[in-house]
Amino acid sequence: MEDLNKFSKRIIVTGGAGFIGSNLLHYFVKKYPEYLWINVDGLTYAGNLENLKDIENEPNYVFVHTNIRSNVDFLYTTLFKRYEVTDVMHLAAESHVDRSMVNPTLFVETNVMGTLNLLNAAKEYWKENYSEHRFLNFSTDEIYGHLTSVDEPAFNESTPLSPRSPYATSKAAQTMFGYTYFNAYGVPVINTSCGNIIGPYQFPEKLVPLTIDRLIHGEEVPVYGKGEQRRDWTAVSDVCKAVDVIFHKGKVGEMYCIGGDGECSNIEMINAIIDALLEIRFTKEGEHKRWILSPLPIWKNKYKKLIKFIKDPRGNAHDFRYDIDHSKLTNELGWNPEYTFKQNVKETVQWYLDNQEWVEHCKSGEYKDWINKYYGE
Ligand code: NAD
Ligand code: TYD
Repeated sequence: MEDLNKFSKRIIVTGGAGFIGSNLLHYFVKKYPEYLWINVDGLTYAGNLENLKDIENEPNYVFVHTNIRSNVDFLYTTLFKRYEVTDVMHLAAESHVDRSMVNPTLFVETNVMGTLNLLNAAKEYWKENYSEHRFLNFSTDEIYGHLTSVDEPAFNESTPLSPRSPYATSKAAQTMFGYTYFNAYGVPVINTSCGNIIGPYQFPEKLVPLTIDRLIHGEEVPVYGKGEQRRDWTAVSDVCKAVDVIFHKGKVGEMYCIGGDGECSNIEMINAIIDALLEIRFTKEGEHKRWILSPLPIWKNKYKKLIKFIKDPRGNAHDFRYDIDHSKLTNELGWNPEYTFKQNVKETVQWYLDNQEWVEHCKSGEYKDWINKYYGE
């Protein structure tokens, strides 16, 4: 990297090869050519450089293959000093609740220790002038525990932390270290907490991509328990815009909750996916001709028959309901989700239909082992 100073900011995005990170990089690399975007990713099973093919040669993008669990001196030298880093957007994480039930230690090592390593490197490198920098610490609504009824008010920035799964607990610790490094040392951390996110490039182990992929292939869709748990779904492109305003206008030391006003139960989400799939397949000219041989109600019935209610593998750690009140972000920074729930689901289904090759590449050895072990196929 030659002239770093031609970039007014040099921003690390950790976890840039994952679902949200790659969507953020698509959005930011094009929108801010005056910033250098440094994708720092250890390429675990969830990291995929194929997600970034269309921006990999941009002059303001660089990929650095690094594990955030590496020691602090290494991160300081090979990242902060090497690229004269001005800011961090920290997304790298172990992110799947089910995997955390099986291997909690890995979640502590990556989500807690990895975050501490980055915070320590930033603390040391920026110590002359914290006010010019930002460390965006990306967390989840799962840190607040769960709402136990549909009437309980949504989470907001003041809700006490009360995590219930190993994943949520590791993210709560990550979040608390964010607050602590601001309070104790002045490191310019901004915490965010976001509900469930959907969109392109989500690894097909999570509910939405897994459901779409299985329906497309005529395979059973495993629903935990009765599918009554509720989540608030946000479009990943809305999340990118929220991160943009928080990064540029948010106050250090603060938390901002991001939500999509798209709450529904898991079974409602699966039905919405079926409706979107049918709508797309029956309105597309080419496909219509093929599918008309069996009328729409028959297909609807075929898809519904694939829904399989299974014993809840999360047991008591399965959170009943999440909902996010994003009024602080709306009132103070002017952000609102633009996507409606229906549009969000339909565009996501369309993307997975159009990118089945990408899904097939994800479903390689490690993925198969996980699915076989967890769902016992
Ligand atoms: P993801 O699992 O798709 O991607 C995680 C990325 O982090 C991968 O590219 C992986 O290779 C990388 N990574 C993992 N361990 C690493 C390590 N030790 N060193 C370097 N890189 C490593 O996750 P995602 O869904 O994109 O989530 C990104 C962030 O957003 C996470 O912090 C997650 O907790 C948070 N979050 C996600 C959601 C959601 O619905 N997906 C909701 C709220 C918050
Ligand atoms: P997930 O996408 O893993 O996100 P999170 O656990 O962070 O909310 O799961 C969303 C919901 O869907 C959650 O209540 C668990 C449920 N679920 C299923 O019913 N079947 C599945 O195969 C998966 C992966 C999740």
